[in-house]
Amino acid sequence: MNDEKKRELRSQAWFGRQDKMGFYYRSFLKNSGFPQDQFEGRPVIGICNTWSELNPCNSHFRTIAEHVRYGVLDAGGFPLEFPVSSLGEVTMRPTAMLFRNLAAMDVEEAIRAHPLDGVVLLMGCDKTTPALLMGAASADLPTIGVSGGPQLRGVYRGQMIGSGTNIISMSEQLRAGEVTLQEFHEAEGAMNRSHGHCMTMGTASTMASLVEALGVGLPENAAIPAADARRNHLARMAGRRIVEVVNEDLVLSKILTRQAFENAIRTLAAIGGSTNAVVHLLAIAGRVGIELTLDDFDRLGRDVHCLVDLMPSGRFLMEDFYYAGGLPVVLRTLGERGLLNKDALTVNGRPLWENVKDAPCWNRDVITSFEEPFKPEAGIAILRGNLAPDGAVIKPSAASPELMRHTGRAVVFESIEDLHHRIDDEDLDIDETCIMVLKHCGPKGYPGMAEVGNMPLPQKVLKKGVRDMVRISDARMSGTAYGTVVLHVAPEATAGGPLALVQNGDLITLDVQARSLHLHVDDVALAERRAAWQPPTPHATRGYAKLYVDHVLQADKGADLDFLVGRTGSPVPRDNH
Ligand code: FES
Ligand code: MG
Repeated sequence: MNDEKKRELRSQAWFGRQDKMGFYYRSFLKNSGFPQDQFEGRPVIGICNTWSELNPCNSHFRTIAEHVRYGVLDAGGFPLEFPVSSLGEVTMRPTAMLFRNLAAMDVEEAIRAHPLDGVVLLMGCDKTTPALLMGAASADLPTIGVSGGPQLRGVYRGQMIGSGTNIISMSEQLRAGEVTLQEFHEAEGAMNRSHGHCMTMGTASTMASLVEALGVGLPENAAIPAADARRNHLARMAGRRIVEVVNEDLVLSKILTRQAFENAIRTLAAIGGSTNAVVHLLAIAGRVGIELTLDDFDRLGRDVHCLVDLMPSGRFLMEDFYYAGGLPVVLRTLGERGLLNKDALTVNGRPLWENVKDAPCWNRDVITSFEEPFKPEAGIAILRGNLAPDGAVIKPSAASPELMRHTGRAVVFESIEDLHHRIDDEDLDIDETCIMVLKHCGPKGYPGMAEVGNMPLPQKVLKKGVRDMVRISDARMSGTAYGTVVLHVAPEATAGGPLALVQNGDLITLDVQARSLHLHVDDVALAERRAAWQPPTPHATRGYAKLYVDHVLQADKGADLDFLVGRTGSPVPRDNH
């Protein structure tokens, strides 16, 4: 490498110095046995690892990191692995989402503070992907994303079972007395039988797909199972490639363009992806200064059909998706219909279209054609009305067609505890025509906007064989969930949104075709209720939760912290000694 290139490398502000500070920086790393030539102008690549035993979905990331390391060494770089907060979706309470922004801060500051020229992000479980992308976007070094890959299919008594999706259906069957506790326990082991993240098209698989669609990941990033050797191969190739990405000075903001986000939104529709991706994409875009709005999701996703028959909307799982050709087939199909910004640059240095234009499909049951789609016009719909002035979200592909236009009487729950307490009460005045309304589960209210929007149905309704009702809240729902569920109502109840004013017995009309959510209470009555409304006592008076509640933006703005929006890049900070 020539001297000019050496001067360009950010890490040389640490390792290239021939003074007291250079001694410090090199000497302390030499305790690991690194020879002098590692410090002489090689691109230093951070491997940003979310491995944690507290996050089972990322439990194989030490192995993946090793393969990235081999790749970096193959290409003449100097790999240094570092840990950041890992967010385990099923273990963290009150919700992993509360900590997404905290982890993003950790990532951003770790990148900027250290002698790094480029980063490989290891991401898997739901919130790890947006957290790392948000932090890396604000730091804006050359970056490649590597997802950990989905688990193998769940198989229970000969039947395919999917993460989350079948937990929800089986727990309803348990409550309805249709399965035994023993069967329930057997299914637990049958579902999670390999490393990897949830293998339905839940939030983790959705975000891994969007990493690929955004161009931040290499082709096939979305679907190779964690247990498949080709996942390690992909990691090694990312390690090799990041060294070139540094030499090309291909910083993340050159990949995360408006074009790329438009591709991600259309991809989200085509894969019937998680509603959580709406919040995450808005937040990531905010970091790079791209003005993405809820209306972009409705407008861009409206003509897009759902092309993959995957749970929770359909039948198959991510392993099947990979064998059928994976995301490149979906991207190719979008491109052939004029629904892709083909020139969007990807981390392998090629436009997206070059990566996918010849992608073969091996199974049309799993990935359908655009002409005979799995579900027509399946983009995420954005609803507005006097109940959601700043918008609400519904995923039509996971909803019941007969409930897409529905007027019903509101049955109101003030909190998720209130719901759990009363939902199975025989005296609760509710039937399947009612609309369940849940308050105080938004970003400030929970806090952290928990995945409780797909409320459990009342037992007496379940016993009739009914499996869906209209449900409305300021919460999110798991990407593995399903139902006619209106989510992310903004402003949230705790912030004084109209949702806070809904009372038992009010009539509400959901009309997905008209994109409207209307509360049949006139403005005068609403104003009276507003005058009498008292904001709830805040959940937190100190610590991170207080910082979060004081600064979190509403769902329609991505629920980032207000002071984290934007990017500062990676200027070399001043000396530490
Ligand atoms: Fe980690 Fe689903 S719980 S991806
Ligand atoms: Mg989740």
